[in-house]
Amino acid sequence: MHPTGRVGRSRPCGPLPAAKGLSKVTVTKDPSCGCSPGWVDHLKQARFPLAVIETSEINHVKTRLGVPWPLAACHTGEMAGYVVDGHVPAPAIRRQLSEKPRATGLAVPGMEVEDKEPDTYEVILFGPSGHRALLGRPGGLMNREPALVATREKWMGFYNDVVLPCLIDRAMRKEELVGYRRRVVGAARGRVLEVGIGSGLNLPFYDSSVTEIIGLEPSQPLLELASRRAGANRTVSFLPASAEAIPLDAGSVDTVVTTWTMCSIPDARAALAEMRRVLRPGGELLFVEHGRAPDRWVVHLQDWLTPAWRPLAGGCHLNRPIADLITAAGFKIDDLRTGYAPGPKPFTFLYEGSAKGT
Ligand SMILES: C[S@@+](CC[C@H](N)C(=O)[O-])C[C@H]1O[C@@H](n2cnc3c(N)ncnc32)[C@H](O)[C@@H]1O
Repeated sequence: MHPTGRVGRSRPCGPLPAAKGLSKVTVTKDPSCGCSPGWVDHLKQARFPLAVIETSEINHVKTRLGVPWPLAACHTGEMAGYVVDGHVPAPAIRRQLSEKPRATGLAVPGMEVEDKEPDTYEVILFGPSGHRALLGRPGGLMNREPALVATREKWMGFYNDVVLPCLIDRAMRKEELVGYRRRVVGAARGRVLEVGIGSGLNLPFYDSSVTEIIGLEPSQPLLELASRRAGANRTVSFLPASAEAIPLDAGSVDTVVTTWTMCSIPDARAALAEMRRVLRPGGELLFVEHGRAPDRWVVHLQDWLTPAWRPLAGGCHLNRPIADLITAAGFKIDDLRTGYAPGPKPFTFLYEGSAKGT
């Protein structure tokens, strides 16, 4: 069976029993995923022992396993400490298991489908800091790339875990940002979810009427800084999670706050959909974000700079159309102020306002 669900080079008599010594693959899939049976069949044909779990919380599973959002498919596998996301062909998995590169796992992004044989799929090896190597066809897998990924991972791990949190904390402490923080954060009420709380610089600006502040943040070093800033403040708690899969119940918060965060979230659309889900009816999204400017020459610069800027700045995109993204996620913007803050124009076009779920 073709891993996409189409019939490829299948055995006429069905799959052989699972081979001894091969690692068990635990496949997690969304109940609505129609393509995973094909991939499961493909693994059975390759004699991998299998367990299949269905869950509608597949995004949470992917967050836990560290699958980068742009690589995520609708089913994922766990095997011998590695992740296998999407239609990764069996030969690629076998090679991964025998060569054991230092990596999080393998992915076939974009849901490779129809008209392609599995051995032509683009398989990507990825590491915990999001470093990737295109491994190409299974036949050409694991040549020099894993070593390269491991080296990059080592340096980027140091940069992301040690250098970047200090840079973010320092850059975000700028005096010019205080006025925005005071206005946006000061309007929050009730039970608040702050998405991407960073080093906790908004904490002093919450009104005393706020009953609870939940600071969601995927970066552990930033969470530690934020927790030091929160001190003994009992209204504050932290969620080490990603905005694309917010581990809170639907309709459970009164306000969502985001300040200079949407630029860095890998899948901003999924994150906004989650923010809308967790907001109670009539609850507010309060935001101040930098993004796509109205001037053509600035946009050109933003588009040009973003690929180089993103890996250095924690995934920050300079060119996201913030208001359009918020509206596309089903929010109605009640109030929007835009304009350049002081500083180089590609970095300083700001969107400040509030929105409600429709
Ligand atoms: C420029 S910092 C802003 C920090 C903070 N909001 C502030 O105003 O000081 C961007 C923040 O977005 C966070 N971030 C990146 N990806 C995220 C994700 N998937 N979910 C939630 N936050 C994320 C980063 O870890 C970082 O804390």
